[in-house]
Amino acid sequence: MIRQTHRWLSIAFTLTVIANFVAMTQGQPPAWVTYSPLFPLALLLFSGLYLFVLPYRTKWRSAHHNESENKS
Ligand code: HEM
Repeated sequence: MIRQTHRWLSIAFTLTVIANFVAMTQGQPPAWVTYSPLFPLALLLFSGLYLFVLPYRTKWRSAHHNESENKS
């Protein structure tokens, strides 16, 4: 669920970066185009940090009580 979100956000982020390059060929782009990658990037950061912590959280849990592993 979070992994799919991260995957689709990465596509959205990439598109905003490409849009920036395209807009730059027309001169200085408007500020909202320049800053448009930041919002998906911020969401990528949080979903990415969650994905990073997932395996450690699973290990921590199974070390304390016997639960089945890797139910991401
Ligand atoms: C901003 C901070 C980011 C963090 C902390 C982060 C972290 C992570 C982590 C921990 C994973 C899981 C790796 C694993 O399989 O164990 C992951 C997967 C992935 N990340 Fe990020 N990421 C970030 C930004 C990005 C960006 C900018 C992109 C691309 C534009 C990106 C694209 C992807 C993709 C395509 C996957 C594989 C998802 C899948 O299909 O399973 N991430 N990321």
